[in-house]
Amino acid sequence: MFESGTIATLTINRPKALNALNRAVLEEIARVLRDVRHDSAVRVLIVTGAGDRAFVAGADIAAMAGMSTVEGLEFTRLGHRVMNTFEDLPIPVIAAVNGFALGGGLELALACDLIVASEKARFGQPEINLGIIPGFGGTQRLPHRIGHGRARELIMTGEMFDAPSALAWGLVSRVVAPDQLIAETRKLAEKIASKSGFTLRQAKATLRAAATMEEDAGLRFEQNAFGALFGSADQAEGMKAFVEKRAPQWRHR
Ligand code: CAA
Repeated sequence: MFESGTIATLTINRPKALNALNRAVLEEIARVLRDVRHDSAVRVLIVTGAGDRAFVAGADIAAMAGMSTVEGLEFTRLGHRVMNTFEDLPIPVIAAVNGFALGGGLELALACDLIVASEKARFGQPEINLGIIPGFGGTQRLPHRIGHGRARELIMTGEMFDAPSALAWGLVSRVVAPDQLIAETRKLAEKIASKSGFTLRQAKATLRAAATMEEDAGLRFEQNAFGALFGSADQAEGMKAFVEKRAPQWRHR
C-alpha cells in the first residue's frame, strides 16, 4: 500500500500473516521503491506495517519451508536487493515500527535511515530457532548499528527485545505511545523535509559512508561532500539567511 506526497508512506499490508515478506511482497516493494526514486515530489519515505500487531514478523516461513538451496539463494538475493534499494534511495527513509519487527522485519528497519518505535514494538533475529541465519542483511547491519557483542548474542540466542532496549542500544532514535506513532513519525519526517533536499542527500551519503567504508576513506568522503556543498545555491542561502537573521528559503526542496 503506497500513499504518495511530500511525505510518502509505504505500508506492508498482509496483516493475517503479520506482514511477513514473501516473494510477491518483496517484488511489490521493489516496484514501489522504483516509483519513489523517480518521483521528485517525495522528500521523505515512511515505512510501516498494517494493523496494530506487526511491522513485519519476518520472511514468510511457510513460503521458505520447502525451498531448495538454489531457491534459498534466489530468495536471499531478492531480499538483499530490496534492502539495498531502501538504503540507496537518495531521500531519508524512516521505519515506523508498530509491533513485531522480527527477522526480515528487523532487517528491513535496519535498511532505513531512522527507526521510530511504538512502546509496543518487539524486535529480534529469531532465525536461529528455525535452523537458519538472518538472510536479508542482519548479520552485517545489526552489528554496525548496535555493536558486535550485543548483535552476536541476539543472533545466536534468537531472543526478542523491547523498545526501551532498542532505544538504549541506539537501534531506534525515539520511542512513542502506540497511538502517536504515525503522527510523531510524520512530525519528524516533516522537520527533515523542511531542510534543503540537496544538503540532505549529501548528509545521507556521508552517513552511509560511516557504515560501509574504512574510517580513513569515510573521512575523505566527508571532506569531498563538505567541499562540494560550497557554491551550491542552498549553502549560499543558508549562510545568507543566518547573517540576515531570517529563515532560509531553500532552492532544492
Ligand atoms: N511467516 C509466515 N507467517 C507468519 C510469520 C512469518 N514470519 N509470522 C507470523 N505468521 C503468521 C502465523 O503463522 C499466524 O498465521 P495463522 O493465523 O494462519 O496460523 C499469524 O501470522 C499470526 O501469528 P501467531 O498466531 O503466531 O501470533 P502470536 O501472537 O502467537 O505470535 C509471533 C506472534 C511471536 C510474531 C509469532 O508469529 C512468530 O514467532 N512468528 C515468526 C517470527 C520469525 O521467526 N521471524 C523470522 C522469520 S525467518 C527470516 O526472516 C529470515 C530472514 O532473515 C530473511
